[in-house]
Amino acid sequence: MTVSRPPEWSSDLSRAVHQEPHLTGIDLIDEQHRVLFRMIVELREAHFGDERPVIVIEHASQLYQYALVHFETEEGLIESYAEPFLEDHRATHQRLIKGIRDAVLEYKRSGNTIPSSLFDRLDEYCTHHVNNDDVEVLEHVRVGIRNERLELLTSDPDRPR
Ligand SMILES: [Fe+2]
Ligand SMILES: [Fe+2]
Repeated sequence: MTVSRPPEWSSDLSRAVHQEPHLTGIDLIDEQHRVLFRMIVELREAHFGDERPVIVIEHASQLYQYALVHFETEEGLIESYAEPFLEDHRATHQRLIKGIRDAVLEYKRSGNTIPSSLFDRLDEYCTHHVNNDDVEVLEHVRVGIRNERLELLTSDPDRPR
């Protein structure tokens, strides 16, 4: 089996190994982003390391499953603390997840070639969505959580609500 290796993908691989997601200040989300980035690196390593297609697709499927969990977590927080931003953010998640799913299905069909659309989606996720969209909207969430904690700390327990 021959796997094509465009040079730009090889350089993406080395860049991905060293890349860390920008921090949002929300521990749960930051940890999930780290896991996602690590899974993306593992997927790239499996693909460019000539792992068997079944192993590569296993990595891609795990990434897909984890992305679903992460998006659900993030959307729950946005709904609670930054509701006006939810609709747009959810639409972006749906577009990303569809891109990954379509690429996994295409990969399964072809058997030995990973579609460039998968890496386009992963790059979009790594470099743009997490480091820009998420950082921006999750700042509202972070402030909302902080204000809620402050309110709890300073509230008078005897005051009627
Ligand atoms: Fe995220
Ligand atoms: Fe997001």
